[in-house]
Amino acid sequence: MKQIILSLLVIVAVITLIVISFTVNQVNQEEQQLKSDLQFRSILLAESLKETVEPNFINRSESYLQSIVTRFTDKERFAGLGIYDNKGQVIALSSTVPDSTISAQVVATNAMDSDKANGDFMTVNRKPLYVLAVPLHQDQSVVGSLMIIQNAGYISERLEEIWRTNLIRLAVQASLLTIAILMILRWIIYAPIKVIVENLKSARSGSNRKNTKGLTNSFLFGPLINEITNIRASLTEARLSASQEARLRLQKIDSPWTAKRLEEFIKDTLKGRTIFMVSNREPYIHTKNGNKISYYFPASGMATAIEPVMQAAGGIWIAHGAGDADRLVVDKKDHVRVPPDEPKYTLRRVWLTEEEEKGFYDGFSNEGLWPLCHNAHTRPTFRKEDWDQYLKVNQKYADTVLEEIKHHEKPVVLIQDFHLALVPRMVKSQKPSATIGIFWHIPWPNPESFSICPWKKEILNGMLGADLLGFHTQLHCNNFIETVGRELESLIDFEQFTITRNNHTSFVKPFPISIAFPNGISTANFDYKLAAEKFKKQYGIKTKYIGLGIDRMDYTKGIIERLKAVEIFLNKNPEYQGNFTFIQIAAPSRTKVKKYQEFSEDVKNEVERINNIYKKNGITPILLIIRHHNHEEIQTLYKMANVCLVTSLHDGMNLVSKEFIAARDDERGVLILSQYTGASRELKDALIINPYNGEQTADAIKQAVDMKPSEQIRRMHNLRETLSSNNVYRWSAELLKAMANL
Ligand code: G6P
Repeated sequence: MKQIILSLLVIVAVITLIVISFTVNQVNQEEQQLKSDLQFRSILLAESLKETVEPNFINRSESYLQSIVTRFTDKERFAGLGIYDNKGQVIALSSTVPDSTISAQVVATNAMDSDKANGDFMTVNRKPLYVLAVPLHQDQSVVGSLMIIQNAGYISERLEEIWRTNLIRLAVQASLLTIAILMILRWIIYAPIKVIVENLKSARSGSNRKNTKGLTNSFLFGPLINEITNIRASLTEARLSASQEARLRLQKIDSPWTAKRLEEFIKDTLKGRTIFMVSNREPYIHTKNGNKISYYFPASGMATAIEPVMQAAGGIWIAHGAGDADRLVVDKKDHVRVPPDEPKYTLRRVWLTEEEEKGFYDGFSNEGLWPLCHNAHTRPTFRKEDWDQYLKVNQKYADTVLEEIKHHEKPVVLIQDFHLALVPRMVKSQKPSATIGIFWHIPWPNPESFSICPWKKEILNGMLGADLLGFHTQLHCNNFIETVGRELESLIDFEQFTITRNNHTSFVKPFPISIAFPNGISTANFDYKLAAEKFKKQYGIKTKYIGLGIDRMDYTKGIIERLKAVEIFLNKNPEYQGNFTFIQIAAPSRTKVKKYQEFSEDVKNEVERINNIYKKNGITPILLIIRHHNHEEIQTLYKMANVCLVTSLHDGMNLVSKEFIAARDDERGVLILSQYTGASRELKDALIINPYNGEQTADAIKQAVDMKPSEQIRRMHNLRETLSSNNVYRWSAELLKAMANL
């Protein structure tokens, strides 16, 4: 659009220049023409009047002369008449001639001195005039002069009119031309290109929708449309064989899980049953910037993992509409198809009031359950009013689920995380035919820790409404079963890992979550090397080695401990001072919660403190960036880092560690990973550390930056193998298989 506007401006500017130079020329010619007309007319008039005035002048009949002057006064363009003696004294003068016509008198004197007609254009009392004087004679000698004064104002009026007419013409022409160009662009270029893009999109997404709107015979676009039709045919063929291959792979246990294989698996296993995903955080957040609506993907491990599954599985995802433009893009049923650029499933938005969000999200979920489940030494806060909102909002989610599934006989409902612990029971009690699973994305603490929650029984009872309860690790499953054993009347089968209560059995199983890897998305279209250079230039990074941390700004992530480890590393290894930069990316998170605000301040202060100590030639060792980053930015950072530090004090899984591995297709870079993450159970080739042990983490940084390429390749290769066989497609297939088998 910018280019179109610029081109239009250039066209209009060129036309304007042409019109202006023509007008200047026209005006000059017209001015000369009008002036010489006026001069000519004045001379004719002067000569004819001279014949009347001269005899009377000689006879000195002043009264007669005055009557002549008066008779010719104020006749339209004729402003007046004056008669002077040879000393320049006035003999007769029109009353309309201003007294201040001194310059006019000069004209008269000059005419007498030169003994010939003399004229000049002048402005008197802001009136443009033409003054012409002719000498009066007696016996060949000059005895006086006759002066004619003409109004010359009409000349400038005429010139102004020419300007006005030409400028109006210019404005009309420019507008018509702009409209014409825009119409041409819209009809001849934009509309067909839009059709072509839609066709390409539908070809890529495998949809049958084909609308070439008569473009097939178009001279300009016909060949392109034909090509697209051919590509579509080839893609359909490729898809068909991929689908057949995926079906074959279903039978082979050890072949890799892909989006396609999951799609086939779901068709096979669920046999047309729709998946309803439920979470508090939504995968696409629409925001408004002026009149422009855009969207972003949240910094959420849960959303990162679930989104590719929904893309493969289709269905409906119910979540909180948290964006300020979310309401603007939904339909009457609060539905919007996503991903916005290539819709594959439906997002159903749930609206929460400020009060609900405060009590349910900030309060009970983030100040209560979050610290309760994480062993990060931050005390949970439980308030009755927050619990009331938690109950109310869980009911709101359950009602929305019930509304969405009402026409489905055996829907599959997959509830995500600690925000919605009560939803399984609420839905199951109303729709027993639904198969319900809940996946807990954060750790489950030991029974003692959990027992401090005032509403522990209600939470456990709510969760046990699910047919399947999933955690990341076996340890979390064990903790959960033990907690139920302590708190609720129930029958526990430790062989099967089931809990039976009020005639309903729930299965408890570990499903280590992962990411979409490989995800089939080509990275060839983005120049990561160039982006890395730009980033380094922007932040003045010149060091040889780069360490990286990417997290939500959360006290469970061990950011302070990590910074301390960087400090110890620099202190112990001075040769790396000025040679090593640590980049900490922190996405703002739960910013209304006091502990998070305080934590953010602590991180900033710690960075400042360390930077002040190790600053060298204006270069500081730590770069802290607190903001959301898009996919390309994050990938660039992963690819440019020598070492990535994941030092969570406690983490259900931690997907940053897996994303780093997925990004390193060069099989370089070292991962330092906290032993308190779920990921550390799988990613054995990372350097595993205890984040509370600063010395150990610092040594791991040293080991990482000194690591030989061959060892980096060996470790990263193994990590990538592990990741590719334990990706999120496999995770969801296992989960859905378990649900379908119930
Ligand atoms: C953790 C939780 C997720 C949550 C994410 C982001 O990963 O397990 O459920 O989505 O943090 O937190 P937020 O409060 O922004 O949803």
